[in-house]
Amino acid sequence: FFIRKSHPEWHNKKVVVTAGPTQEVIDPVRFLSNRSSGKMGFSLAAEAAARGADVTLVAGPVSLPTPHGVKRMDVVSAEEMYQIVMAQTSHADLIIKAAAVADYRPAETSEKKMKKSNDPLEIKMERTKDILMELGQRKEKTVLVGFAAESNNIKEYALQKLAKKNADVICANSVIEAGHGFQGDTNALTLFFKNGTSADIPLTSKADASRKILDAIAPLMEGVK
Ligand code: CTP
Ligand code: CA
Repeated sequence: FFIRKSHPEWHNKKVVVTAGPTQEVIDPVRFLSNRSSGKMGFSLAAEAAARGADVTLVAGPVSLPTPHGVKRMDVVSAEEMYQIVMAQTSHADLIIKAAAVADYRPAETSEKKMKKSNDPLEIKMERTKDILMELGQRKEKTVLVGFAAESNNIKEYALQKLAKKNADVICANSVIEAGHGFQGDTNALTLFFKNGTSADIPLTSKADASRKILDAIAPLMEGVK
């Protein structure tokens, strides 16, 4: 493990990355989750650490090794991720929210395993907190990068998220095209920047996409500190 000397702008920058899905408990044996593998966020954390940044990785339940030089904090639910991220971000220079955070959780969790009956089952769901949106509301100097995984209208939805969440960059990818986004080792993205510009990262490995994403963010980091 060595620090890449060619990236002085990243040295000692405090970077927080979130990755993976969250799990929202229904009962002792069941939960609601999503298909996020965590690979994109873990790869970004590894690349930022290799560039000399001080990286904290807040990870949902995934089976991935901790990248070299990265401080990892494991969480399960959206609420836990919210608590940990808020506690970690006070001095962050850059926050990258690659996690696929649950939007809803069961309004009640059962202490005992639920028993089936012949009736249809309805589970009442309530909203979780939108971590990126809260970070955007509190934002001062921190560079804020979100992701948007969409099945359709990618550009329109990504631009809406950029504005609504007060992010500096939204990294958008398709979740239905082969080789893009969730679970695989490759991704293709479009980065939408606050200044109205955008940049395409054509289909490539998540490791290479991470290098390109950090290269694209680097100029924004210059205004930090
Ligand atoms: N996000 C978050 N907290 C949530 C939900 C989402 O921080 N409770 C973040 C994600 O980590 C991602 C960005 O917001 O960086 C966009 O997530 P996405 O699910 O694409 O957008 P939503 O705003 O949740 O809208 P929708 O799911 O309806 O498309
Ligand atoms: Ca969502």
